[in-house]
Amino acid sequence: MPTSIAFSVNGRPVEVTAEPEDTLLDVLRNQLGLTGARFGCGAGQCGACAVLVDGELKAACHMEIAAVAGAKVTTVEALSASNPPHPLIQAFLEKQAGQCGFCLNGILVSASLLLERNRHPSRAEIARALDWHLCRCGAHNRILDAIELAATRMKEPA
Ligand code: FES
Ligand code: FES
Repeated sequence: MPTSIAFSVNGRPVEVTAEPEDTLLDVLRNQLGLTGARFGCGAGQCGACAVLVDGELKAACHMEIAAVAGAKVTTVEALSASNPPHPLIQAFLEKQAGQCGFCLNGILVSASLLLERNRHPSRAEIARALDWHLCRCGAHNRILDAIELAATRMKEPA
C-alpha cells in the first residue's frame, strides 16, 4: 500500500507517496526528477546510483524508500547547484575525466565525500575511495587527475 514518506533532498524538504518496496533511486529519478543517480546493476555493486544519506555513501538502488524517512539525502545535483559549483565539476570538465559518463554520478559523489573527509588525499587514497565504482572506459587516470586537481584547488585560499 502506498505510504507517505518525508525526508530532505539537497537541503529541500520533500514528501512523497510510494510503495514500500520502491527504492530511493526510483523516487529520486521518477518522482523528484533528479536523474543524476543512475541505474546500473540494481544490486548495490557498481556505484552508479551512489548518493549520501545522512553523510554516508549509499547505493540508492538498494535502499527502500521507507528507510530514508527523516533522513538528509544528497545527490550529485547538489555539486552543481551550489554557488560556486563544487571544484570537482570544473576539474572533471578540464581533465575531460570520463567517456560515457554513466558512472560519473557515483564517482563524483564518492569523490566529494572523500574531499570532505580528507583534504589531502594521496593518489592511492583517491583510488581506494573509488573502489566500489565500476567504470569500464579508459578514463581512470583522468578521473584520478581531476580529483587531485580539485583537492589542490580546495587547499588554495579563496
Ligand atoms: S545501480 Fe546501484 S550500485 Fe549499481
Ligand atoms: S565514464 Fe563511462 S564507464 Fe567510465
